[in-house]
Amino acid sequence: MVRFLHISDSHIGPDPAFQTCGHNPLRELSELVRVINALPFPFDFVLHTGDVADESSEVSYKLAASVLANLKAPIHYVPGNHDCSVGMQRTLLASKEPLGRIDQFFAVGGVQFLLLDSRGAIQPGGELTQSQLEWLAAFCTADGPPLVIALHHPPITLDVPWLDSDTAMTVPMLLSNRGAFVDTIMPARSRLRGVFFGHVHRAFQVVESGILFSSAPSIVGQLKTWPELTEPVLAAEEAPGYCLVTIDEQRTIVQQYSFARAASARVASELQTCSTQ
Ligand SMILES: [Fe+2]
Repeated sequence: MVRFLHISDSHIGPDPAFQTCGHNPLRELSELVRVINALPFPFDFVLHTGDVADESSEVSYKLAASVLANLKAPIHYVPGNHDCSVGMQRTLLASKEPLGRIDQFFAVGGVQFLLLDSRGAIQPGGELTQSQLEWLAAFCTADGPPLVIALHHPPITLDVPWLDSDTAMTVPMLLSNRGAFVDTIMPARSRLRGVFFGHVHRAFQVVESGILFSSAPSIVGQLKTWPELTEPVLAAEEAPGYCLVTIDEQRTIVQQYSFARAASARVASELQTCSTQ
């Protein structure tokens, strides 16, 4: 069995006071780390599905690292469209010889994990190269242990016009060669326990072709994804969140949690202090 926390889209800026989505991402990330470290059960690791930084400068990654270093569990990263893969590798993964793209494999609790770098040539959309699809295909055989795949960009449509539209008039958001991606993973369908993604700043759980596709909410701000919405709208009033994922012999269980924003958490703890004095 394996249990992990799926987090995404922290968008740390180059300045501690930086704001995006109407909030301060560094404060929200610090609060998330505090919440995660206080969870009253064990878990194996944290999975961050990208957009760690908002504008990929080294100082942004150093700020992110200064907070994430306090996590009491290992963390794995998938680069997002806002990320610089080299900067991430150098600062967050302490890599001395960073690669242009990073695809990663590891196994925990008898489950295989494949993390794909899906940053595409046309921003902010995603794309996998032919060599990445070949690398993926080598793992996606019919037989083997349970398998989990993670990438930043959604590899399926989500019934949201501003996310799903692939025309020249719109901003691409999905994985452009998602058909080739699904064809590649399909031989492993019977042992595929989920495809986890970020980018959409909203928790989705979709079962398509017998495969679970699941995204995590953003750490800093959510976006509205109504079925008929043709452009993104900020949901500044919504709380940040994360997902708890448990994979056992029979099931994949995804639980979504929100957490109070750093400012409200501080007020709540002050009120608690007042009431106990
Ligand atoms: Fe994002």
